Amino acid sequence: MNFLKKIETSNNYNFINDTLFAQGNEHKICENELKKIDEIINQVFLIKKNQKKELNSLFSNLEYYSNIVFENLFNVNKDQYFQFFIEEIKKKYFSTVNEIKLKIYSKNFSQSYDENNALFTKGYHFGELKKEAVDSIIKISKKYLNTFSENIKKNKTNRNDLSINTGSDIRKIIKIINFQFDKNGINNCVSDYMQKTSEVVGCSLEMSTENSTWWRWNDGKNVSKYTLYAHVDEDLFCPKSICYLSDVGKLNGPTSFYPNIIKNLDLNFMQNIIGRIINSIGSSKKSKLFNIYEKKSNRAYETELFFKHINNLPKNLKFDSHIGWYIKNNTALEKKFIDNEIVMEGGPGKFVVFDGSKVFHRGGCIDEGQRLVLQLTFGEKINFFKKSLRKILKIFKI
Ligand SMILES: [Fe+2]
Repeated sequence: MNFLKKIETSNNYNFINDTLFAQGNEHKICENELKKIDEIINQVFLIKKNQKKELNSLFSNLEYYSNIVFENLFNVNKDQYFQFFIEEIKKKYFSTVNEIKLKIYSKNFSQSYDENNALFTKGYHFGELKKEAVDSIIKISKKYLNTFSENIKKNKTNRNDLSINTGSDIRKIIKIINFQFDKNGINNCVSDYMQKTSEVVGCSLEMSTENSTWWRWNDGKNVSKYTLYAHVDEDLFCPKSICYLSDVGKLNGPTSFYPNIIKNLDLNFMQNIIGRIINSIGSSKKSKLFNIYEKKSNRAYETELFFKHINNLPKNLKFDSHIGWYIKNNTALEKKFIDNEIVMEGGPGKFVVFDGSKVFHRGGCIDEGQRLVLQLTFGEKINFFKKSLRKILKIFKI
């Protein structure tokens, strides 16, 4: 979680000016409080796990200063819908803070990481699966490819139409991958990173096609073609892996990484967290804004009121984890992304393990052709006894 720490830089470059979010509120608020919050977060990471009292007091100070910032945010605009917008951000912000708190309090958490672990140093690590493993996985996957192709012909290109993530074949693939990841040290690397014994627990076989339109460039908006969909994940603790099952080159949607950019944005803690919450505001049916916004797409500027609300946020609290949609042409930020891009090209079996919350990335934006991949998620390794117990509980619906 070191990406949550604020690193003091002399960089005065304001990245918001290079995005569509530049329009709107140009002011900064609560600079002192935000600075205090950053100091507290830095201290939280220095505390030893047995110093619970100190941690409690740091977190209550964090809450205190965060509440002051929210009080000021409520005053930015008295419009009722804007008040709902801030209310929802506040609720989600504190639930993220709570998540961080639980992680830090958890008995497994310690600061003794392996310093050479690539997930800490770079945020991503490339590797190759053994050929026999790839062949077996491709053999298992074959029967689903016809369904995917049929769906593409019918112009059904949603994720559900072109992917599968449950069933006995998926469990077989997970088993093969875990056997490989145990042997090549990937599961160890993730366990060290997560500070608990981890392995692959989820798998989705996914086809991407040039017929998809979800990522298409909107040339009327003066946004960069080169950064579309570049994002950091919203979830703060989620290492995952992508494994190619087909040849992937520059044109058929390679996964790309943009190392160091998140650090260069010089985000304060609250801004960093708000940017990861923002896209979910008004998206759930339970939200007071669900029927008001009626979001139609994954880009904020296509929902007028939502975009207006984001633009009403003060400059030093504005961030969007999916900033790649909003970067303007010919800007310093666009250049940073282009200069930093590491494109993962390769054949079947090439994989990457990465923490999507720590490094900007994108993938599956296909200019020409298709790509077939496995998206793999990690979770705590559960022993045989616990697994059986869970099954029994499930059967009896306890
Ligand atoms: Fe992602």
